[in-house]
Amino acid sequence: MSENINTLLKESRVYQPSAQTKAAAYIQDYESAYKQSIADPEGFWSNVAKELEWFTAWTKVLEWNYPWAKWFVGATCNIAYNCLDRHVKTWRKNKVAIIWVGENDQERIITYGELYRQVNRCANGLKKLGLQKGDRVTIYLPKVPEQIVAMLACARIGVIHSVVYSGFSAPALANRIQDAEAKLVITADVGFDRGKVFNIKSVVDQAVANSPTVEHVVVLRRQTPGVTLATPKEIDWHDWLKAEKAVCEAEHLDAEHPLYILYTSGTTGKPKGVVHVHGGYMVGTYITTKYVFDLKDDDVYFCVADPGWVTGHSYIVYGPLLNGATILTAEGKPDYPNPGRWWDLIERYGVSIFYTTPTAIRLLMRYGEDWPKKYDLSTLRILGSVGEPINPEAWEWFHRATGENKPIMDTWWQTETGAIMITPLPTVPLKPGSATRAFLGIEADVVDSQGNSLPANTGGFAVIKKPWPAMMRTIYKDPERYKTYWNTIPNCYAAGDICHKDENGYLWFMGRADDVIKVAGNRLGTAEVESALVSHHAVAEAAVIGKPHKLVGESIKAFIILKQGEVESHALIQSIKDQVLKELGKIGVPSEIDIVSSLPKTRSGKIMRRVLKAKELGQDPGDISTIED
Ligand code: PRX
Repeated sequence: MSENINTLLKESRVYQPSAQTKAAAYIQDYESAYKQSIADPEGFWSNVAKELEWFTAWTKVLEWNYPWAKWFVGATCNIAYNCLDRHVKTWRKNKVAIIWVGENDQERIITYGELYRQVNRCANGLKKLGLQKGDRVTIYLPKVPEQIVAMLACARIGVIHSVVYSGFSAPALANRIQDAEAKLVITADVGFDRGKVFNIKSVVDQAVANSPTVEHVVVLRRQTPGVTLATPKEIDWHDWLKAEKAVCEAEHLDAEHPLYILYTSGTTGKPKGVVHVHGGYMVGTYITTKYVFDLKDDDVYFCVADPGWVTGHSYIVYGPLLNGATILTAEGKPDYPNPGRWWDLIERYGVSIFYTTPTAIRLLMRYGEDWPKKYDLSTLRILGSVGEPINPEAWEWFHRATGENKPIMDTWWQTETGAIMITPLPTVPLKPGSATRAFLGIEADVVDSQGNSLPANTGGFAVIKKPWPAMMRTIYKDPERYKTYWNTIPNCYAAGDICHKDENGYLWFMGRADDVIKVAGNRLGTAEVESALVSHHAVAEAAVIGKPHKLVGESIKAFIILKQGEVESHALIQSIKDQVLKELGKIGVPSEIDIVSSLPKTRSGKIMRRVLKAKELGQDPGDISTIED
């Protein structure tokens, strides 16, 4: 039996960039820009780095001691300095940096100058609490501007931040505080979610009770009267900073100084503390934000992620601020108070770049196209998607709902890669469902388990062949686990995803290698089957797993959520199977289909297939600290 993955899904639609998109784009000719960048990657990355400010220059661009990389060796810099001081010195000092909208429509607008002052006060406050370069701070805040302020303040003085998404439970938070040995936790009294108030402080109380390294807890009190604080250990955010000066020198840090730890477990296993550093991460997030979204000074950039995830770190906070962009960030969910929420925000603030997720698009699809039609979306010019394969059906819907002529950047990357790796640029012809090609300076391939390049249309492992500046430097306190990324497949970084390249070199991600289903000697990725399922008009969302089967090895079981108004029936199930048959052939057709009302997802929206599988087979699901529901 071949170890390669079968590719069944055929998608032939191609969208060319509009004249308007072409006229605006930084990169006019991807092919030649890519060739040049790959001929001399160190030259390419050092030219990018020169667009930013360094306190002292590097003596060597890359030191590669497999699998350990150091980029911009000998240089000193500070990412927060590049996000703030670099702009405050120019006309951008009064430019809007952040437009924040609360779930209750409260609005806060913060300029670069004001953000700079708030960050400096916060950095001084950190120093007053005794925090020093290299110490760790856990940030457990809802989506409020203080989350961004706290991250940048840590970065400014070389303190390492560990942002934990504020939906995590007390044990999950405690585990992350303890692993990082954080001295300080920054939190809030409450967060808001679909109109409900949820108490965050009580979660922190439980977590801190078991975390002896924590000396202080700073609390942003959003409610009046505010919660009572246990002084002197607990401090009110405003009291903490009101006497602090708005000036604080940015620490000159080695380019390899850690910027943050971000715990990821994604869909599998025990959380790992992915470590990113100031220099390389700054270069990677800066240039990907600029080129992928074609970011210009007059854009309003809306990324729906939470800074608790890597997308928030790289594409709400660091990448956009490094570019001096105006960012819109909004607390709350896409369907609250109604499914027009995001379209309304786009209209209200004249958003031009909109970066979202397939899971959110599928959620909005369920409510139909009338919602986006109610709003003026004409300011949009570039769209983005991240987090999962975007199935062609959702891609087409997103494209139509936003006016048919805006390119969708399907960006593939990971917490570990730090920045976008596989992605179109706005001038690259698009194929719905494909993340297209490698970003400049990135060498990607699809290989077998020995690292041999596979021919077109053969599924295999997605790998990166050379180090890149924004790559993680290690797993916190677990270098052995870091090494597994680089020694699973000889001489390359194995992402753990399966993928195939088509005859034009376009990459199609097919799911996680761990989720591959083996049916009668064929190996299928989950994404293709799920994509075929959601191409049926009645299906809103789908997840598939493999179940042991005496005859064929594994059989496919599908769990699906129907669109609003659709009713389960024998005929409907049959027509869904027929649809998959038409799309993929017999091999892809699930033998069982269960209609469900929800699917287990990570808090960032990814389907946890291993939880479905464990439940189906009556097994232990392992760590489920990241599960949403
Ligand atoms: O399986 C891939 C999927 O998300 C994984 C990375 O998850 P995480 O570290 O949480 O980061 C998410 C935000 C970058 C990948 O290994 N993934 C992410 N983006 C895509 C994707 N799969 C297909 N297409 C994408 N655009």
